[in-house]
Amino acid sequence: MIDDKFTQTVINNTNIVDLIGSYISLKRSGSNYKACCPFHEEKTGSFMVSPSKQIYKCFGCGKAGNVITFVRDYEKISYMDALKKLAERINLEIPDNKKNSKKDSKLELIYKIYSLTNEYYVENLKKHGNLAKKYLASRSISEETITKFNIGYALDSFSGLKKYLQRNQINNNILVETGLFKAKDNNVYDMFRDRIMFPIFAINGKVIAYGGRAYTAEQEKIGKYINSPTTPIYIKSKELYGLYHSRFDISKKNYAIIAEGYLDFLRLWECGFTNSVASLGTALTDEQIQLLGRYTKHINILFDGDKAGKNAAIKAAGIAVKHGLNAKIIQLPENEDPDSFLINNPPMALQHLIDNALTLNEFLKMNQNLIETREAIDYLIDISKQMTDPISKDLFLKDISESFKIQESSLREQIAKQSFVQGHDVQKPKKFEFKKSIAEENLIQSILQNNNIIKKVLQEIDFDYFINEDMRIIFKILSDNQDFDYNERTAEFLNKFDNEDLRNKVSGFFLADAFEFDVDDLILQIKVRKYQEDINIINEEITKNPDNAELYERKIFLKREIQALSKSVVHKTLF
Ligand code: CTP
Ligand code: MN
Repeated sequence: MIDDKFTQTVINNTNIVDLIGSYISLKRSGSNYKACCPFHEEKTGSFMVSPSKQIYKCFGCGKAGNVITFVRDYEKISYMDALKKLAERINLEIPDNKKNSKKDSKLELIYKIYSLTNEYYVENLKKHGNLAKKYLASRSISEETITKFNIGYALDSFSGLKKYLQRNQINNNILVETGLFKAKDNNVYDMFRDRIMFPIFAINGKVIAYGGRAYTAEQEKIGKYINSPTTPIYIKSKELYGLYHSRFDISKKNYAIIAEGYLDFLRLWECGFTNSVASLGTALTDEQIQLLGRYTKHINILFDGDKAGKNAAIKAAGIAVKHGLNAKIIQLPENEDPDSFLINNPPMALQHLIDNALTLNEFLKMNQNLIETREAIDYLIDISKQMTDPISKDLFLKDISESFKIQESSLREQIAKQSFVQGHDVQKPKKFEFKKSIAEENLIQSILQNNNIIKKVLQEIDFDYFINEDMRIIFKILSDNQDFDYNERTAEFLNKFDNEDLRNKVSGFFLADAFEFDVDDLILQIKVRKYQEDINIINEEITKNPDNAELYERKIFLKREIQALSKSVVHKTLF
């Protein structure tokens, strides 16, 4: 069990000066040590480490603590993980809460295989990777970078890695599960052959996957990259290439650059942009953004300058904004990617582009050839709806309103409108959304022309019964203003409709020729249609849950209601 005693052992056996000194440079100052605080921006050294008390404190920002909190806050990991990391550092065995489960030992084995594999690929590049090395040199990847990022080489062999692992006492049974091998007719063979291997490091520094790049035309025909599949230790959507190496600089510079490719990342690194990551080629995910958000709230997206790159950047920025991060899009010239741009231009040129990066709103506004205004606004509204932090959301809406010169109230109305629809999405198939309903329009017109009937109508139906989006909103506003004499104070009433479109419609109803509709009949039609629709939905649910008795009961109830209503129609027409 990890308990107080264990924690105490870790603290007592870790020298805080050595530990913190391994992360940042400390200067002696009397009996203490001093540094620029790693937790806030400063030029003077307010950060003190006391060897006698084994604690640190920043007199600038107030942060203080012991070795465990330092590792936790610096590495942005949990307290427990910090404790474990420190225990590992002093070779203290970590007691397991549960008995070392089968699953844990399997994961350990896979990690070990990756570690062996990594040594193997790195050695291969040195000993047998002349052509691969030449290719890397032709792409201006330095020796230093190759070493730093453990770039390796997979031999042109179906069994090189397999034999190497066998020589290291790895049992064949586990091989396929590692994602490094394939199996055919009981034969297990190396998956990566004759490729330059880019290892992907987890945030704890362990290699967990590979991207294998072709460097010959022949291999390129199979695919420019072969990537590790999902394995027990690797889920692609949760990792970012380079983050393990760049995480401290991301915190320090307080912004991250996200590129798409391995080579983009390496080029950025070599040009001094050591606060970068790469998204592993696929669309950026929520998890990746959340992971990055632990290190900074400022994300700069640096994708290819072409149309595909721009579209991907718009999506990526949307995800970042949704999670309350500040996202900016760096605009590259049309035919450049980050790698080519930095080959052709000095780092300063990129810095200039970074300094002039655009917010998502600005970017959409600037790129109307890519996405037309209405679509862009709908996209932004959709993002805003997913934002959980109310203040960020508010600021975001204000920003959309300013960028696109749209009244904020209209944006909010649109959101409200969509949430009505969304709230009923599950029940209401999309195709009904824009369908016109004459009965609904006639009913709304009747209510608008005679405010005596709204209360009566509300006893029968609510806005939920309307399938036409506009009518539904108008009805909702009417029901919220039941006591407002809109026949007397019509102009004033129109102010309740921020959306110009809706206001126009409502005015139209007010001004339409008075026509005496049979209101009871309209309500009835709307009810029957609603019940029928509900039955359709229940039928769909029944196919999914055929054993749910409640569904059948509801269906029978609705059918009876429809029957009863239909009878009253017959009754009416007869008399
Ligand atoms: N990618 C992939 N499979 C492919 C193509 C791309 O997995 N067939 C992923 C890789 O992670 C790659 C990234 O998408 O790094 C970006 O693709 P691309 O620009 O084509 O590759 P680069 O690594 O940038 O290589 P290059 O500079 O030669 O284009
Ligand atoms: Mn590229």
